Amino acid sequence: MNITWIGHSAFLIEGYDKILVDPFLINNPSTDVTPDQLSCDMVCVTHGHSDHLGDAVAIAKRQKIPVLSIVELSEYFDKMKCQTVGFNIGGSVKVKDTKVTMTQAVHSSGADVDGLEGAAGAATGFVIESGGIVYHAGDTALFGDMALIGSMHRIDVALLPIGGFFTMDAAQAAKAVELLKPKIAIPMHYNTWLPIKADPSVFKRLVEKNTETKVRILDPGQSITIDTGGGRDARRPYPRRS
Ligand code: NI
Ligand code: MN
Repeated sequence: MNITWIGHSAFLIEGYDKILVDPFLINNPSTDVTPDQLSCDMVCVTHGHSDHLGDAVAIAKRQKIPVLSIVELSEYFDKMKCQTVGFNIGGSVKVKDTKVTMTQAVHSSGADVDGLEGAAGAATGFVIESGGIVYHAGDTALFGDMALIGSMHRIDVALLPIGGFFTMDAAQAAKAVELLKPKIAIPMHYNTWLPIKADPSVFKRLVEKNTETKVRILDPGQSITIDTGGGRDARRPYPRRS
């Protein structure tokens, strides 16, 4: 499985399929990637804030691929004439060979995008199973039920916000790693702007002191390949730990 941090909370996950999450590109100071440069099979959007919804409409329409999001936000994508999969927290969908489970996130979700009036449902995260298991936390505070997410899924990679101010900071995200027990954690949602300035090495130090998880600090645009053992996720036994 290959994971590319595009910048901020935008990732391209390449497993059985190519899954693009939170494609905030055009106004994102940390990337020069443009919407027409990305090819993928589906787009997952964690919540309605513009630094996550980003360029999802343009990307999905150009490639005629579905946008996966919570039902209320999905109504906006319907209105924008995208293919949509609108589901809700706790639910799972299968798109192509990828299973996506929507998780809670402790955060708000709003309407700072043209055409998206009122509330855009709740903020969410995703567990994405596609030849490996990736948890994208979205924007969230630390919450105790991350332990449940970690016990229900053998997470290969957790993508966690560390920037503080709008989300968890590095210390809180390190506690999240203790609950989630992923093999690898990758920090996101930091240093895009001044209010979310953070030092990812603090996160790495805390995580690697307290857990067996390895932290991989990426630069925007950087990819890593992760050996997930090659087996179909569904064949893995769970709960995962004693
Ligand atoms: Ni947000
Ligand atoms: Mn955000």
